[in-house]
Amino acid sequence: MMSNATKFEELTNSLISRRAFLKKSFSIGSLALMSTTLGSIAAYSSQSFFNFTKVDCNNNDTITLPEQYTWNIVSKWGDPMWSDVEEFDQTSCGSHESQLKSVGDNNDGMELFVTSDNKTLLAVNNEYTNHKIIFSNRKSLLPENEEDILKGMYAHGVSIFEIENSNNQWNLVKDSKYNRRITPFTKMEITGPAKGHSLMKTKEDKDGIYAKGTWNNCGSGRTPWGTYLTCEENFNNYFSSSDKNFKSTDELHRYGVRTREIGLNWAKADSRFDLSKEINEPNKVGYVVEIDPLTPNSTPKKHTALGRFKHENAELVISKDGKIIVYMGDDERGEYLYKYVSNESINKVKDKSTLLSNGNLYVAKFNDNFTGEWLLLDTQTTGLSSKAEVCIFTRLAASKVGATTMDRPEWIASNPKKNEVCCCLTNNKNRGIKTNKGGDKVDVDKVNPRKNNKYGQIVRWKPRDNNHSSVYFEWDLFVVAGNPNVHDDNNRGSKNIDKENMFNSPDGLKFDKYGRLWIQTDGNYSNSGDFRGMGNNQMLIADTNTGKIKRFMVGPKECEVTGLSFAPDYKTVFVGIQHPGERLGSNFPDNGNNKPRSCIIAIQKKDGSEILT
Ligand code: FEO
Ligand code: CA
Ligand code: CA
Ligand code: CA
Repeated sequence: MMSNATKFEELTNSLISRRAFLKKSFSIGSLALMSTTLGSIAAYSSQSFFNFTKVDCNNNDTITLPEQYTWNIVSKWGDPMWSDVEEFDQTSCGSHESQLKSVGDNNDGMELFVTSDNKTLLAVNNEYTNHKIIFSNRKSLLPENEEDILKGMYAHGVSIFEIENSNNQWNLVKDSKYNRRITPFTKMEITGPAKGHSLMKTKEDKDGIYAKGTWNNCGSGRTPWGTYLTCEENFNNYFSSSDKNFKSTDELHRYGVRTREIGLNWAKADSRFDLSKEINEPNKVGYVVEIDPLTPNSTPKKHTALGRFKHENAELVISKDGKIIVYMGDDERGEYLYKYVSNESINKVKDKSTLLSNGNLYVAKFNDNFTGEWLLLDTQTTGLSSKAEVCIFTRLAASKVGATTMDRPEWIASNPKKNEVCCCLTNNKNRGIKTNKGGDKVDVDKVNPRKNNKYGQIVRWKPRDNNHSSVYFEWDLFVVAGNPNVHDDNNRGSKNIDKENMFNSPDGLKFDKYGRLWIQTDGNYSNSGDFRGMGNNQMLIADTNTGKIKRFMVGPKECEVTGLSFAPDYKTVFVGIQHPGERLGSNFPDNGNNKPRSCIIAIQKKDGSEILT
């Protein structure tokens, strides 16, 4: 008997003929038909994918899991990573000194590593801070002196710490030799085409070869050689100009860098954030940074070859021909989806990290006939004067080649079991309404099919010839989110959405080793109006063979569910709970009158077996 996977490949091959039909009548309705077709053909192991009782939507201020599961808190914002630091102070929310040696705030993307001496490490992004909470000891709810500003800065970056499992509870290990904080001040090496370019030169770095720190670290990635990738997203919000007459530029505008201070006041503590004093500092952020978590004194590398934009995550795969491929989204309304292809193949180079400094950038074009193309960004195709400029002003380069503006690309995930890559397009209130900052058109199209997109969708593509190096692909929409409680038009969602599994704003996305797709949401948790019945943000599991989607977890109030890692034995899944109580409507996880704190939880099955068996 033919394997089910083979059947699915056959089905994929027949996409062309179905497309002839879809072409004529593409709508949410025909998407629904596609899901049904997939379901009826691939009877495939659906049971083992979904051997749990689905969780209902709710507005509870806790973690809700199927009955067979249990969870514990692994780490929280402000937890000391060394024993010479005081525990988190509920009144002051810590000092700049304690924050520097404690877990950062707003944990987002994370990856798990196992060391040669068999220790388990988590490398975790700390994206931003919640002012109303971290500065709740100040009347203004903002930093009021230089120490406050530093406390906020140190809460950003990356936290790397050892964890251990004792008595079935995972906890942070203080004083581990692997524990490390990376902040907006950590020295980093610049690699790739922009290294040494005049646009990278500053007073502190006259040669343009290093960068100071990383901030607004959103999603993550990992390399086959065991390093961590952290992605700089909304880096723009931290700059301002003390000179009111400072003249901004088109480039600053495109990246949303404003001259007005929004209250973070980083420029008051460090003049490189003052545009009138250091015009090139914004060019040194907005990249993918590689960190070796196993070597705590190693210098992180900012890889400019992977482009500069509001990086969400970095999904790395090895192509058939041994090239390193990195899929990356630029999370802003009407921005683009990118792919990097290394020049060398992995077996040909000794220093694997150089694979991320020599290569080419492409941007995605999704055609309405369900084919797609990766468009090369170089000096010829973009008219920019050097490869360095393509890497520094990637958004401007992408606008030149006729790529497809997208509904906010968030995480991208590649299926380890088959030729399939998915990306969350989280929502876009500007679709069909307002151009991006470069003036690029944002018409409704087949991949971004709804004007004022409130709920989001997940697009997936299949590289031609099963080769991620190919510039051609075929695509479809795996799911179009919606609310069947409220709508019976396109906003009800595709047919694989029903009242039992509905959600909005897919964001975090990862395939596990079995090819199950885990979906995390960062959406509207009002539970009213267009979002009636959807409850708090949540996590679902999908079978991309059948289209089936089932809810596994609901988070506490006002949180986003983001960040996902599996223990090597698959008996624990680590999940990030970011900004519970961001509007002060939660005290998760400590409850009582305690401050709500972003945290990481470990989910296990009560019987100790693999997480989904
Ligand atoms: Fe930091 Fe696009 O999420
Ligand atoms: Ca995100
Ligand atoms: Ca967020
Ligand atoms: Ca989001």
